Amino acid sequence: MGTNKDGTFSAEFVDELDELLRWRRDVRRFRPDPLADGVLDEILASAELSPSVGNSQPWRWVQVVSDAPRAAVKANFERCNAEALDGYRGEKAKMYTGLKLAGLDDAPVHLAVFCVPEPDQGAGLGRRTMPQTLEYSVVTAISTLWLAARARGVGVGWVSIVEPDAVARALDVPGDWILVGYLCVGYPETLEQTPELERLGWQARTSPEVRYEVR
Ligand SMILES: Cc1cc2nc3c(=O)[nH]c(=O)nc-3n(C[C@H](O)[C@H](O)[C@H](O)COP(=O)(O)O)c2cc1C
Repeated sequence: MGTNKDGTFSAEFVDELDELLRWRRDVRRFRPDPLADGVLDEILASAELSPSVGNSQPWRWVQVVSDAPRAAVKANFERCNAEALDGYRGEKAKMYTGLKLAGLDDAPVHLAVFCVPEPDQGAGLGRRTMPQTLEYSVVTAISTLWLAARARGVGVGWVSIVEPDAVARALDVPGDWILVGYLCVGYPETLEQTPELERLGWQARTSPEVRYEVR
């Protein structure tokens, strides 16, 4: 299924995969409609296929359903966003006020994604010298979720303008869980091929020197 006999994928599939990567967006504007039945479960099942250090699977998905914790997260976002604005001056400050940096009001699904610091799985393999690989593993899962969602027409917006401890407290999760991302999930208002921060003149995709060779 999907693969050729030699384990490769068809050229058409590779083109479509590239198309998916081009059309994945960080979404801040959502239609209020709920997700279709079963779609969230499908997306989360895809995210479970992500790599993780020592196969530790340290991600924990917390769906934030009720109004009170959602309101607490939103209040924290608004405070952090105002503080961030204070750090800019002149043209950048003017531009920052025009950015929409979270879709917390409209997104039908809020997912807080945590990393557990001592997962039962993996027996510590691979992280003795790099303990941060646990959190990296959670990022890979979010990245997979982002693509799995987009493939189904579902948008994801990553909100990092919050205080992790405040979010963890608002959601009443175990004290040692580490917030990696707070995600707004839902059907996007529009489909865009260009990142919003590029369209609004904040930061374009550039081609910085990212590739070096050591011989
Ligand atoms: C770790 C991480 C944190 C982010 N935090 C925010 C955020 O708080 N608010 C926001 O609007 N976008 C956030 N983004 C989205 C980026 O702004 C976005 O990925 C970037 O502008 C490129 O746009 P694209 O994802 O549509 O390609 C975050 C993305 C990542 C990977």
